[in-house]
Amino acid sequence: NGPIGLMAAIPQELAAHADLVIRQEREIAGCRFRIGRLGGKDLVAVEAGIGKSHAAMVATLLLQEFKCRALLFSGVAGGLDPDLGIGDVVVADRLVMHDYGALVGGRLKPYQPGVPPLPGFPEDIGYILPPDLMSKIKDALEGVDIGGFSAAATGGEPHRSRLIFGTILTGDSFVNDPVARERLHLGFGGVAVEMEGAAVAAVAQRFGAPAVVVRALSDLAGGDSHMDFPAFLDAAAGIAARVVGRIVTVL
Ligand code: ADE
Repeated sequence: NGPIGLMAAIPQELAAHADLVIRQEREIAGCRFRIGRLGGKDLVAVEAGIGKSHAAMVATLLLQEFKCRALLFSGVAGGLDPDLGIGDVVVADRLVMHDYGALVGGRLKPYQPGVPPLPGFPEDIGYILPPDLMSKIKDALEGVDIGGFSAAATGGEPHRSRLIFGTILTGDSFVNDPVARERLHLGFGGVAVEMEGAAVAAVAQRFGAPAVVVRALSDLAGGDSHMDFPAFLDAAAGIAARVVGRIVTVL
């Protein structure tokens, strides 16, 4: 019955939670854990840093040191599904490490992290969001206005954000490559790519705690992602924070 662990990778993702009430702070391993409240719930919020190692370390601390009962990641991602645009939101119903496996003939054969690649190992790898938790989250988000981008922000048409549940891929590289983007989408069925989510889910699973990952698209992981990411980071982080603010109330 502990607090909720609210994680982000970079300052902008946590700063988007303007209504976070901080009561106390504790620093461990260079990370500032902010103990407080959000949406009527006790929570510990922390910026973990970028990548799977930092995410795994901070997830472990939240669960072991702060006795968090659930982990919630709030941040941005690169879109992989051609149907999605910048500002759309993905809640992970499955999380997969796309860079874990064996390199064979110049191609990565994906494995489930930590599991020996036994013969007949299932293809459907990844960490699944439990269906009962997914339906609670769906109910909490039913009919909620999650916002979007104004015409000023897009430089063109205003964009109302869509919200979908789908597979989010995690790996230790920023994807800025149209070929990799298509390979990740087709090879894994991923709708978005980021650098922490599956590591959080892996640690949470070991502790028997749920992990919910929410990502708004800051870019589309293709040739323009290095320019889109800084341009849309703050706005996308804000949209993710709005969705996370709703999910907190049912966790
Ligand atoms: N986070 C936001 N955009 C990303 C991208 N293109 N690749 C990996 N992580 C991201």
